Amino acid sequence: MAGERWKTAVVTLSDKGYAGEREDKSGPMICGILSESEYNIVKTVLLPDDQKEIEKCLCKLCDNEKVDLILTTGGTGFAPRDCTPEATMAVADRNVPGIAEAMRLASLEITPRAMLSRAVSVIRGTTLIINLPGSPKAAKENLEAILPSLNHGLAILTGRDGECAR
Ligand code: MTE
Repeated sequence: MAGERWKTAVVTLSDKGYAGEREDKSGPMICGILSESEYNIVKTVLLPDDQKEIEKCLCKLCDNEKVDLILTTGGTGFAPRDCTPEATMAVADRNVPGIAEAMRLASLEITPRAMLSRAVSVIRGTTLIINLPGSPKAAKENLEAILPSLNHGLAILTGRDGECAR
């Protein structure tokens, strides 16, 4: 299996983006960063901040399309309609707090507002789901903080690697 790329989906959550009132810059930016390394973007989705819709989409990507990794962007803040973390937790089998913690830790070096992201990271089946904030700047900074460790986690999760390298 060595050399295979991770099947990846990028899901943008934005009422304005979905309504065509704002261009989705974060989704394509994330795809650009991932495509430069071992990630194969098999699906991109743009949805409104609707918890049930997001849950349905995440379940389909995990259970039917069997993607290895889902990155969401947007809907992690305090706005009344922000519900990405709730949708993600609702479909989770296992919590992976360290990834969200690492993103906030790295981001706090950049801005104190990093504490306002409620992003979570979880596992459903053999899919890793990670929330990123919505702005292109924040999404990029958060993604870059965790990217070096993702490959190893995915290898363990999907059974490509048997055990943790020391
Ligand atoms: N993290 C980094 N690295 N850089 C940022 O500029 N912005 C913060 C936070 N995380 C930010 C960040 C802000 S201002 C908010 S409100 C939250 O992410 C949530 O963003 P969201 O509502 O777009 O998901």
